Amino acid sequence: MHFDIITVVPELLDSPLTHSILRRAQEKDLLTVQVHDLRPYGLGKHNSTDDYQFGGGAGMVMRCEPLAALIDELKAKRTYDEIIYLTPDGERYTQARANRLSMSENLLLICGHYKGIDERIREEYVTLEISIGDYVLSGGELAAAIVVDSIGRLLPGVIGDETSALTDTFQDDLLAPPVYTRPAEWRGREVPEVLRSGNTPAIEEWRQEQAEERTRLRRPDLLGDD
Ligand code: ADE
Repeated sequence: MHFDIITVVPELLDSPLTHSILRRAQEKDLLTVQVHDLRPYGLGKHNSTDDYQFGGGAGMVMRCEPLAALIDELKAKRTYDEIIYLTPDGERYTQARANRLSMSENLLLICGHYKGIDERIREEYVTLEISIGDYVLSGGELAAAIVVDSIGRLLPGVIGDETSALTDTFQDDLLAPPVYTRPAEWRGREVPEVLRSGNTPAIEEWRQEQAEERTRLRRPDLLGDD
Protein backbone atom coordinates (compact mmCIF):
# COMPACT_ATOMS: atom_id res chain seq x y z
CA MET A 1 0.00 0.00 0.00
CA HIS A 2 1.21 3.48 -0.85
CA PHE A 3 0.62 6.87 0.79
CA ASP A 4 1.45 10.26 -0.68
CA ILE A 5 1.28 13.14 1.80
CA ILE A 6 1.22 16.82 0.83
CA THR A 7 2.47 19.28 3.45
CA VAL A 8 4.22 22.62 3.92
CA VAL A 9 6.07 21.21 6.96
CA PRO A 10 7.51 17.84 5.87
CA GLU A 11 9.76 17.73 8.97
CA LEU A 12 6.70 17.21 11.16
CA LEU A 13 6.20 13.79 9.58
CA ASP A 14 9.80 12.55 9.86
CA SER A 15 9.70 10.95 13.26
CA PRO A 16 6.28 9.23 13.32
CA LEU A 17 6.94 7.54 9.99
CA THR A 18 10.46 6.31 10.62
CA HIS A 19 10.19 4.36 13.86
CA SER A 20 8.67 1.24 15.34
CA ILE A 21 5.91 -0.53 13.43
CA LEU A 22 5.71 1.90 10.50
CA ARG A 23 9.43 1.61 9.95
CA ARG A 24 9.23 -2.16 9.94
CA ALA A 25 6.28 -2.08 7.53
CA GLN A 26 8.33 0.05 5.13
CA GLU A 27 11.43 -2.10 5.49
CA LYS A 28 9.32 -5.14 4.59
CA ASP A 29 7.91 -3.24 1.57
CA LEU A 30 4.36 -3.71 2.85
CA LEU A 31 3.98 0.05 3.03
CA THR A 32 5.52 2.97 1.17
CA VAL A 33 5.07 6.58 2.24
CA GLN A 34 6.23 9.61 0.27
CA VAL A 35 6.05 13.05 1.84
CA HIS A 36 5.80 15.89 -0.69
CA ASP A 37 6.86 19.42 0.22
CA LEU A 38 4.36 21.90 -1.22
CA ARG A 39 6.73 24.84 -0.82
CA PRO A 40 8.54 24.49 -4.21
CA TYR A 41 5.13 24.74 -5.90
CA GLY A 42 4.47 28.09 -4.19
CA LEU A 43 3.94 31.26 -6.20
CA GLY A 44 6.26 34.23 -6.74
CA LYS A 45 9.75 34.77 -5.51
CA HIS A 46 8.78 33.79 -1.95
CA ASN A 47 7.12 30.55 -3.05
CA SER A 48 3.92 31.65 -1.40
CA THR A 49 1.48 28.84 -0.64
CA ASP A 50 -1.10 30.88 1.32
CA ASP A 51 -2.89 34.21 1.12
CA TYR A 52 -5.43 36.43 2.93
CA GLN A 53 -9.02 35.26 2.88
CA PHE A 54 -11.64 36.94 0.75
CA GLY A 55 -14.20 38.68 2.92
CA GLY A 56 -11.65 39.47 5.60
CA GLY A 57 -11.01 37.75 8.90
CA ALA A 58 -8.00 36.44 10.75
CA GLY A 59 -5.94 33.62 9.31
CA MET A 60 -4.46 32.73 5.97
CA VAL A 61 -5.83 30.24 3.46
CA MET A 62 -3.79 27.80 1.38
CA ARG A 63 -3.94 28.79 -2.28
CA CYS A 64 -5.36 26.70 -5.10
CA GLU A 65 -2.56 26.83 -7.67
CA PRO A 66 0.33 25.23 -5.73
CA LEU A 67 -1.94 22.44 -4.39
CA ALA A 68 -3.46 21.81 -7.82
CA ALA A 69 -0.02 21.65 -9.49
CA LEU A 70 1.25 19.04 -7.02
CA ILE A 71 -1.99 17.02 -6.92
CA ASP A 72 -2.11 16.91 -10.74
CA GLU A 73 1.49 15.73 -10.84
CA LEU A 74 0.76 12.94 -8.36
CA LYS A 75 -2.49 11.94 -10.07
CA ALA A 76 -0.59 11.51 -13.33
CA LYS A 77 1.50 8.80 -11.61
CA ARG A 78 -1.08 6.99 -9.51
CA THR A 79 -4.77 6.28 -9.30
CA TYR A 80 -5.97 7.07 -5.80
CA ASP A 81 -8.63 5.13 -3.93
CA GLU A 82 -9.28 8.31 -1.96
CA ILE A 83 -7.91 11.85 -1.87
CA ILE A 84 -8.20 12.73 1.79
CA TYR A 85 -8.15 16.18 3.36
CA LEU A 86 -7.42 16.24 7.10
CA THR A 87 -9.67 18.84 8.66
CA PRO A 88 -11.55 19.39 11.94
CA ASP A 89 -14.82 19.74 9.99
CA GLY A 90 -14.43 16.32 8.35
CA GLU A 91 -16.03 12.98 9.16
CA ARG A 92 -14.98 11.71 12.59
CA TYR A 93 -12.24 9.10 12.14
CA THR A 94 -13.04 5.62 13.48
CA GLN A 95 -11.58 2.12 13.51
CA ALA A 96 -14.26 1.11 10.99
CA ARG A 97 -12.97 3.76 8.56
CA ALA A 98 -9.37 2.66 9.17
CA ASN A 99 -10.37 -0.94 8.41
CA ARG A 100 -12.02 0.09 5.14
CA LEU A 101 -9.13 2.32 4.08
CA SER A 102 -6.64 -0.48 4.78
CA MET A 103 -8.00 -2.24 1.66
CA SER A 104 -6.76 0.64 -0.53
CA GLU A 105 -3.83 0.57 -2.91
CA ASN A 106 -3.02 4.29 -3.02
CA LEU A 107 -4.11 7.10 -0.73
CA LEU A 108 -3.30 10.80 -1.04
CA LEU A 109 -3.40 12.84 2.17
CA ILE A 110 -3.52 16.64 2.12
CA CYS A 111 -2.45 18.50 5.26
CA GLY A 112 -3.90 21.95 5.74
CA HIS A 113 -2.36 24.82 7.66
CA TYR A 114 -3.56 28.17 8.93
CA LYS A 115 -7.32 28.47 8.26
CA GLY A 116 -7.24 25.54 5.87
CA ILE A 117 -7.26 25.12 2.11
CA ASP A 118 -9.30 27.04 -0.47
CA GLU A 119 -12.77 25.48 -0.69
CA ARG A 120 -12.40 24.98 -4.45
CA ILE A 121 -9.60 22.43 -3.95
CA ARG A 122 -11.96 20.45 -1.75
CA GLU A 123 -14.63 20.57 -4.44
CA GLU A 124 -12.24 19.76 -7.28
CA TYR A 125 -10.16 16.93 -5.83
CA VAL A 126 -11.02 15.77 -2.33
CA THR A 127 -13.07 12.57 -2.02
CA LEU A 128 -12.97 12.13 1.77
CA GLU A 129 -12.55 14.59 4.64
CA ILE A 130 -11.34 13.24 7.97
CA SER A 131 -11.24 14.76 11.44
CA ILE A 132 -9.35 12.87 14.13
CA GLY A 133 -11.36 14.51 16.92
CA ASP A 134 -13.25 17.57 18.07
CA TYR A 135 -10.27 19.84 18.64
CA VAL A 136 -8.19 22.00 16.34
CA LEU A 137 -4.56 21.14 15.55
CA SER A 138 -2.15 23.67 14.12
CA GLY A 139 -1.94 21.61 10.92
CA GLY A 140 -3.03 18.33 9.41
CA GLU A 141 0.37 16.61 9.73
CA LEU A 142 -0.17 14.96 13.10
CA ALA A 143 -3.62 13.85 11.95
CA ALA A 144 -2.06 12.40 8.77
CA ALA A 145 0.51 10.52 10.87
CA ILE A 146 -2.35 9.05 12.92
CA VAL A 147 -4.18 7.94 9.78
CA VAL A 148 -1.04 6.30 8.33
CA ASP A 149 -0.25 4.59 11.64
CA SER A 150 -3.75 3.26 12.23
CA ILE A 151 -3.96 1.89 8.67
CA GLY A 152 -0.34 0.72 8.39
CA ARG A 153 -0.63 -1.58 11.41
CA LEU A 154 -3.66 -3.31 9.86
CA LEU A 155 -1.82 -4.39 6.70
CA PRO A 156 -1.25 -8.16 6.58
CA GLY A 157 2.25 -9.03 7.82
CA VAL A 158 2.93 -5.72 9.54
CA ILE A 159 2.14 -6.82 13.08
CA GLY A 160 3.96 -10.01 14.06
CA ASP A 161 1.03 -11.61 15.84
CA GLU A 162 -1.61 -11.81 13.12
CA THR A 163 -4.50 -11.92 15.57
CA SER A 164 -3.36 -8.92 17.52
CA ALA A 165 -5.07 -6.20 15.46
CA LEU A 166 -8.36 -8.11 15.64
CA THR A 167 -8.41 -7.97 19.43
CA ASP A 168 -7.78 -4.22 19.62
CA THR A 169 -10.09 -1.90 21.41
CA PHE A 170 -12.91 -0.82 19.02
CA GLN A 171 -12.63 -3.85 16.73
CA ASP A 172 -16.00 -5.19 17.98
CA ASP A 173 -17.24 -1.80 19.16
CA LEU A 174 -15.88 -2.85 22.55
CA LEU A 175 -12.97 -1.54 24.59
CA ALA A 176 -10.20 -4.10 25.13
CA PRO A 177 -10.13 -6.04 28.42
CA PRO A 178 -7.34 -5.44 30.98
CA VAL A 179 -3.98 -7.11 30.28
CA TYR A 180 -1.22 -8.28 32.62
CA THR A 181 2.33 -9.58 32.42
CA ARG A 182 4.83 -10.91 34.96
CA PRO A 183 5.15 -10.82 37.95
CA ALA A 184 1.93 -12.56 39.01
CA GLU A 185 1.88 -10.41 42.14
CA TRP A 186 3.07 -6.79 42.32
CA ARG A 187 2.71 -4.54 45.36
CA GLY A 188 0.06 -6.84 46.72
CA ARG A 189 -1.98 -6.72 43.49
CA GLU A 190 -2.57 -10.13 41.93
CA VAL A 191 -3.20 -11.04 38.33
CA PRO A 192 -6.74 -12.48 38.13
CA GLU A 193 -6.65 -16.21 38.84
CA VAL A 194 -8.50 -17.17 35.66
CA LEU A 195 -5.72 -15.74 33.44
CA ARG A 196 -3.26 -18.12 35.13
CA SER A 197 -5.55 -21.13 34.97
CA GLY A 198 -4.68 -22.29 31.45
CA ASN A 199 -8.42 -22.77 30.87
CA THR A 200 -8.82 -21.15 27.46
CA PRO A 201 -12.65 -21.07 27.28
CA ALA A 202 -12.80 -19.57 30.80
CA ILE A 203 -10.19 -16.98 29.84
CA GLU A 204 -12.12 -16.04 26.69
CA GLU A 205 -15.33 -15.73 28.70
CA TRP A 206 -13.62 -13.53 31.33
CA ARG A 207 -12.12 -11.26 28.65
CA GLN A 208 -15.48 -10.85 26.93
CA GLU A 209 -17.17 -9.97 30.23
CA GLN A 210 -14.45 -7.50 31.14
CA ALA A 211 -14.59 -5.87 27.70
CA GLU A 212 -18.37 -5.46 27.97
CA GLU A 213 -18.19 -4.14 31.54
CA ARG A 214 -15.45 -1.66 30.69
CA THR A 215 -17.36 -0.45 27.65
CA ARG A 216 -20.59 -0.06 29.66
CA LEU A 217 -18.79 2.01 32.28
CA ARG A 218 -16.48 4.12 30.12
CA ARG A 219 -18.01 4.31 26.65
CA PRO A 220 -21.72 3.45 26.76
CA ASP A 221 -22.07 5.35 23.46
CA LEU A 222 -20.29 2.44 21.72
CA LEU A 223 -23.04 0.07 22.84
CA GLY A 224 -25.67 2.37 21.42
CA ASP A 225 -27.67 2.36 24.67
CA ASP A 226 -26.36 5.43 26.49
N1 ADE B 1 -6.38 19.72 11.21
C1 ADE B 1 -6.59 20.55 12.25
N2 ADE B 1 -7.32 19.97 13.20
C2 ADE B 1 -7.61 18.71 12.75
C3 ADE B 1 -8.35 17.62 13.27
N3 ADE B 1 -8.97 17.68 14.46
N4 ADE B 1 -8.45 16.51 12.53
C4 ADE B 1 -7.85 16.42 11.32
N5 ADE B 1 -7.13 17.43 10.78
C5 ADE B 1 -7.01 18.56 11.49
